[in-house]
Amino acid sequence: MEPFRIKTIEPIPFPSREERVRALAAAGHNLFRVPASAISVDLLTDSGTSAMSAQQWAALLSGDESYAGARSFERFETVVRDLTGYREVIPVHQGRAAERILLGAMLGAGDISVGNTHFDTTRASVEAAGATAADFPESQSPASGFGGNIDLDKVERLLCSADGARVRCVVLTITNNAAGGQPVSIDNVAGARALCDRHGVPLLLDASRFAENAYLVTVRDPEHAGVAPRRVAREMFTLADGCWASLKKDGLANIGGLIALNSQEVAARCRDQLIAVEGFPTYGGLAGRDLEALAQGLDEVTDPAYLRYRSEAAQWFGSRLAAAGVPVVEPVGCHAVYVDAAAHLPHIPPHELPATAFANALYSEGGVRVSELGTLVFGRRNPDGGPDLPAPRELVRFALPRRVYTSNHLEYVAEAAARVTAAKDRIPGYRVVEQADTLRHFTAVLKPLG
Ligand code: F0G
Repeated sequence: MEPFRIKTIEPIPFPSREERVRALAAAGHNLFRVPASAISVDLLTDSGTSAMSAQQWAALLSGDESYAGARSFERFETVVRDLTGYREVIPVHQGRAAERILLGAMLGAGDISVGNTHFDTTRASVEAAGATAADFPESQSPASGFGGNIDLDKVERLLCSADGARVRCVVLTITNNAAGGQPVSIDNVAGARALCDRHGVPLLLDASRFAENAYLVTVRDPEHAGVAPRRVAREMFTLADGCWASLKKDGLANIGGLIALNSQEVAARCRDQLIAVEGFPTYGGLAGRDLEALAQGLDEVTDPAYLRYRSEAAQWFGSRLAAAGVPVVEPVGCHAVYVDAAAHLPHIPPHELPATAFANALYSEGGVRVSELGTLVFGRRNPDGGPDLPAPRELVRFALPRRVYTSNHLEYVAEAAARVTAAKDRIPGYRVVEQADTLRHFTAVLKPLG
């Protein structure tokens, strides 16, 4: 059961079926454009959607809003140093600001960043610096359970090739959000460390879900069974040279991010840029009270009872969806359950957006919002004007906000998914009628076919 009880509540809207159908049409059949007031259960993202604890709300009141040298920064810095072991601690307002500043300080035109899979905002920052992001994911469903790992053989081949000298960093995203939220093993981080040492390249972590990765290591790696997740996290941080994180995930707060490093020299360059775009180095785009809530959240998030609940809730929800006849991608991680829409809706070809079709049908049926990770997000417009070039997979992500929904809410979602599944052959595909050149999924206007 949930290892907490509920003290503050927020009513859930229950629009009628007619209202939902109208809201979806008014939003151009794009769930990003549907107002939250028309959503009953919102599983769009686990980012910035956490419920804070009583201690976090209490900490807000002790926020020190001094422009420079605030006490709240000192608390945040102490907590991050204690967690990571890195001396240099730089707050930012969210993950992508950390990426833009740190990768901007480390990469230049023609450089290469190698990763297990750069998240889309990470890739955008690599490319903004004029560099290339190379993704070398290992198999996503290995027997080991570490489907987030980087393929070390491919990294080594690149480092030993003529292009090796252009590699400026190796980035491990823990957990690997773009690869089904799967964890990275300690052995894989250690292997990347050894390669980086041999070739003089820094190793960085995108640690946005560091606590969930650490917990999954304690469950899936017999050598770490029973080890405290905080110790596992420290082991991973120690193997790397630095990290950044969106603290909207495992910071258990609604806004925030960080850069933490060993290198004083790189940190100094980051701080110069920070002052230009985020704010003074002791608040980095955040209020003092945000830093207090984050410091408290970073202490709470490695609680083994919380992490066990988080992981088991995701697994249980995955089993409920599977029992509803929905093809769930196994193994389930912590932050989301991923569903294979191509297998579920074989009558809809990729260019008619099966993942979007399933997500929209689920919204119409139950007011549930999930996100598509298929051809709308990762596909490409065909330069010849023909059907879109498809994404590698047609996935739908049921993301789980932290400490927000109970098992009853998730049971409701599984029941709605079962009803959608019972009539799945009649779900229509979609075509895009308006789209932006980049990140089209946020604003595209769609039309159902047939
Ligand atoms: N890195 C990872 C692994 C992420 O999942 C995200 C955001 C970011 C960086 C960027 O952080 O949003 O604070 O600027 N992921 C969200 C998601 C948006 O829904 O998965 P941000």
